[in-house]
Amino acid sequence: MTRIQLNVNETIHDVEVEPRHSLVDTLREGCGLTGSHIGCEHGVCGACTVLVDDQPVRGCLMFAVQADGKDIRTVEGLDDDGAFNALQQAFHEHHALQCGFCTPGMLMLATWIVERGLPVDDNELREIMASNLCRCTGYRNILRAVRAVLDASGQDGAGA
Ligand code: FES
Ligand code: FES
Repeated sequence: MTRIQLNVNETIHDVEVEPRHSLVDTLREGCGLTGSHIGCEHGVCGACTVLVDDQPVRGCLMFAVQADGKDIRTVEGLDDDGAFNALQQAFHEHHALQCGFCTPGMLMLATWIVERGLPVDDNELREIMASNLCRCTGYRNILRAVRAVLDASGQDGAGA
């Protein structure tokens, strides 16, 4: 076992892991943060998407030891002082989830898109979000929700 330190949502977690343990397993079992979901466990579905040093990462494809000392953000850290942040509110308003299994990964990927601060047109948005799978909604409402937040923050992609 190896002792590592993960800074998750601005809280330090000292955890013991085996070298084979994935980041998402460690977040769920070592840190008690079960918001990040595990679907395929081989990098296809995106349910386990978290931000590592502000970059989207498949938590099932990164070993926990690779995240030692890094800043990690999960869906548990998205809220705005206990209230929905803009993306969470948009998912709510646009009915962008049904069972909710894919939602943590979708939200973290969308967080990265919004926080880049770059204009994003509809094609690019679809291309990026298509990396995460949803079995329920057919994607349109997810795209509408992210689009609404991008438009509200001036990242409308016009002329991009
Ligand atoms: S559980 Fe990681 S990509 Fe599917
Ligand atoms: S809301 Fe069910 S998998 Fe996406």
